[in-house]
Amino acid sequence: MRFDVITLFPELFGPFLQHGINRRAYASGIVDVRLWPLRDHAEGNYRRVDDRPFGGGPGMVMLAEPLARCWQAVREDRLAEGAPPAPTVLFSPQGPRIDHALVEREAAGPGAILICGRYEGIDQRFIDQCVDVQLSLGDFVLSGGELAAMALLDAVARLQPGVLNDEGSHRQDSFNPALDGLLDCPHYTRPEVWQGPHGAQAVPAVLLSGHHEQIERWRRQQRLAASARLRPDLLDQARLAGRLDAEDEQWLGQLDQPGSGGL
Ligand code: ADE
Repeated sequence: MRFDVITLFPELFGPFLQHGINRRAYASGIVDVRLWPLRDHAEGNYRRVDDRPFGGGPGMVMLAEPLARCWQAVREDRLAEGAPPAPTVLFSPQGPRIDHALVEREAAGPGAILICGRYEGIDQRFIDQCVDVQLSLGDFVLSGGELAAMALLDAVARLQPGVLNDEGSHRQDSFNPALDGLLDCPHYTRPEVWQGPHGAQAVPAVLLSGHHEQIERWRRQQRLAASARLRPDLLDQARLAGRLDAEDEQWLGQLDQPGSGGL
């Protein structure tokens, strides 16, 4: 898969692509990321990429022309290299929020042309004519789309076979349909008893029992409890999809009992 990133700040991506767990995906080309500095496609001595908004108001608006020129260069390059056609994505707070289902679709797809907006916005005519989909990282405003692009690339890369050290580990993640879209369970490692600032705390005994079936049941219960407490919407979705069985419901019923402590 190939991602082409159009950005005013390609240097922000350097450390991201060269370090960390996903480096393998980018270095090996499993996830081929090409950076396209937008300013290279701007004209004039000042290589201008933005201007004041028509109608007045604060801030600057990114010009349609350099964006379209850069976007056209990307499309021609993809064509010349035989890359499959791919959608153009604009990162913007106006789009739907990125979620696990979208990441899974992207992870199985041909890649995309990713446009990182900056300043107060982008000339709408470029969006109308060249953008297929807008995506948001969340209901807040970033100063640019670069962080959102990195978030999407990171999430897509870790789903590629051979990228994580342990092949199955992403199937244990929160939101994964393999675990019914619930939150992840708590994790513990050594020492067995940790002296924290608020006292000594032991690892739940079941995790030391070596009893595989009991451990799996405990983990399921913890996923249900965490989702009930922190993300009841995920629990509702799992229930609607018929993913909770009678044992799950019995456990959740117990959590609701007074004195259960919630968890
Ligand atoms: N650019 C500015 N805000 C953004 C957001 N919330 N998500 C994606 N791109 C953005």
